Amino acid sequence: MIKTEVGPDYFYYVPRFLRYKARASFAGRIVGTLNREYLEKCCLMPRYPETYLEAVMDRFRPKKILEIGTYWGGSAAFFSSRKHVKQIHTIDVIEREEPHNLWNAVLEPEERGKIIDHWVIDDKTKKELIGALDFDFCFIDGLHTYEGVKFDFECVKDKCDAVLFHDFGTNEGVTDFINEQDNIEWQSIELSFALWVNK
Ligand SMILES: C[S@@+](CC[C@H](N)C(=O)[O-])C[C@H]1O[C@@H](n2cnc3c(N)ncnc32)[C@H](O)[C@@H]1O
Repeated sequence: MIKTEVGPDYFYYVPRFLRYKARASFAGRIVGTLNREYLEKCCLMPRYPETYLEAVMDRFRPKKILEIGTYWGGSAAFFSSRKHVKQIHTIDVIEREEPHNLWNAVLEPEERGKIIDHWVIDDKTKKELIGALDFDFCFIDGLHTYEGVKFDFECVKDKCDAVLFHDFGTNEGVTDFINEQDNIEWQSIELSFALWVNK
């Protein structure tokens, strides 16, 4: 079931977003350097996701991030723009040119140098790869079925401090899985994110 009510974090973040200018809008950086299509292909759309991501980064200040679901590279680029982030492993099942276009166009060389992209042929390979990686924070934005999200979460949950899910509330499989978990914080249908904290 897709949730329809607005989560309390909406009321926490949105007024702050309206009150203070985002440090530097990464969404603006993408549109200014490339074009809007690159922005529309990533989780920085719609509404106020960048503020939410900023807040989550400020809370955990991760050094090593694992991202599942690279697509056109927007979220990996956002993470790389954070000073405390030293390395990002990003995994996809499809090898594409677009993330490289985006990273080369939008990022400074030291930011680009933090991103290590992987392309896997199946979930077995992905699980083995994740088992060999070191990370303290994970962003799950890959296969958006219930089974897909569950598989990715099982691969990462014992290896990091927190897992951020994208497409909560907008995708039934993701939403159903998240609604079953106990220690989810800051559920947000408005921002399409949900956060699991390893307690
Ligand atoms: C919504 S997009 C990711 C968007 C990206 N995180 C961003 O915000 O810029 C989802 C991506 O997951 C990939 N994907 C699909 N199935 C996957 C799987 N089983 N494991 C990893 N990635 C998968 C797709 O190829 C697609 O590129």
